[in-house]
Amino acid sequence: MSEHEVDAGRRRFLTASTTLVGGTGAVVALWPFVASMAPSASARTAGAPVEVDVSRMEWGQKIDLIWRKQPIWIIRRPPEMVDVLPEEADYLRDPHSEQSDQPTFAQNSHRSLRPEFLVLVGVCTHLGCNPMYRPDIAPEDLGSDWQGGFFCACHGSRFDLAGRVYANVPANANLKVPPYRFVSDSRILIGEMPTEEDLAT
Ligand code: FES
Repeated sequence: MSEHEVDAGRRRFLTASTTLVGGTGAVVALWPFVASMAPSASARTAGAPVEVDVSRMEWGQKIDLIWRKQPIWIIRRPPEMVDVLPEEADYLRDPHSEQSDQPTFAQNSHRSLRPEFLVLVGVCTHLGCNPMYRPDIAPEDLGSDWQGGFFCACHGSRFDLAGRVYANVPANANLKVPPYRFVSDSRILIGEMPTEEDLAT
């Protein structure tokens, strides 16, 4: 089997996840989480940190919110999504995030504080479009090499499931990671860096 050949078991899982996300729709999936966020909408617009309850997220689910007028994504990645990341390194422009924009805590292969939760700014690093979340494996429109990730339809840039950009696409940097921290196992605060205590645990 070639490196990029489809893993049938994983594909079944991700297809199910896609169905969940696609079936419920981003807006529907978002509202209960938004309802639990703090502080107020006006404070969020002004740039205050935004706290998000992730306790009810399903595996593979993505939720969307706005922080400092930027789209922010949170994705709950199952081990299958994290395990494939090292295999993609040879195909990436900046696999170790050396020229990309993220807090130091996210300069690792999964680009996050905890492998399970990916937090990204949902803006393409080419010209600012909003890429699509495509966790499905080898879909017809993206080809047999596609291992799941983010696809920007504006000019065809591709990013893996850690937001790392592939080589030979228009974008030249990985998707940005915003500052964030866990205030508990089920709540993420977007807009604030982790404390030393957080990093020690
Ligand atoms: S804006 Fe995304 S590829 Fe150009």
